[in-house]
Amino acid sequence: MRNVTIDNVTDAVIQSLGRHGDVSPRQREIMTSLLQHLHGFCREVKLQHHEFLQACDFLARAGKVCDDKRQEFILLGDILGVEVLVDMLSNPIEGEESESTVLGPFYRENPPVLPKGASTVQKHFEGEESILVEGYITDTDGKPLEGVTLDIWEDAPNGLYENHDPDQPEYNLRGRFETDESGHFALRAVRPVPYPIPDNETAGQLIRYMGHHPNRPGHLHFILAKPGYRTLVSQVFDADSAWLDEDAVFAVKNSLVAKFLPGRAEDDTDLYVRFDFTLKPQVNEQRIAAE
Ligand code: BEZ
Ligand code: FE
Repeated sequence: MRNVTIDNVTDAVIQSLGRHGDVSPRQREIMTSLLQHLHGFCREVKLQHHEFLQACDFLARAGKVCDDKRQEFILLGDILGVEVLVDMLSNPIEGEESESTVLGPFYRENPPVLPKGASTVQKHFEGEESILVEGYITDTDGKPLEGVTLDIWEDAPNGLYENHDPDQPEYNLRGRFETDESGHFALRAVRPVPYPIPDNETAGQLIRYMGHHPNRPGHLHFILAKPGYRTLVSQVFDADSAWLDEDAVFAVKNSLVAKFLPGRAEDDTDLYVRFDFTLKPQVNEQRIAAE
């Protein structure tokens, strides 16, 4: 189509979908809505050409920041509340199952496999508070689930994840545990501290553009997995942490907040945290990827 106008350009682009190649129904759905919203946004704010160029430059710089340790686009999605929205759309709560929340950019696959009750701590920090975390994992009927793997990761008392801190050993404060026949898990770690998400480069630029802040409340990350059950990506938040109501990435859910209690004599840790999880059965999912 030639001679597009300000009134018909959106329809012209939408009508081009699939004209010269196959487009699946999902691709059409995604692209039609994307075009409507993107054009609508440009119209609403009357986007100017120099602002369009700034946005292109911003995205180009965001791409250049990405490497095997930094996924800038996940960070940008988190700052905009998109990861938490997509998580809630992907994992709607239907019953008694535990709530999920964002994965974030700091997960590492294949953490060290550790026995029940072992510690993830490989390096000690002054002022750290040791914790014993334990709980039970059941299905939505209350049946204990044996053999659930729990990947856990957290920041160190200096506020840094191990893979962003050259002074921490590989996989410090990361581990993979498994539930026993009663669905029980236990591990030792340190109290997670509040930390700022990376706020240099384009992520920081976006945070400042929004007049927001980069801080997250102290939390432990978990991924719970067992064949036949929905994998749960979640976090447990320290009830006494700063920033619980002001999370930079909007990921705090009431049901995921736990009180860190004084340690029990038998555990020999400063603090004790009990947190139970409930997994729901996996149902066959429709493939919705845009192919
Ligand atoms: C995190 O909790 O590790 C995290 C989540 C979103 C953005 C940055 C960090
Ligand atoms: Fe985190």
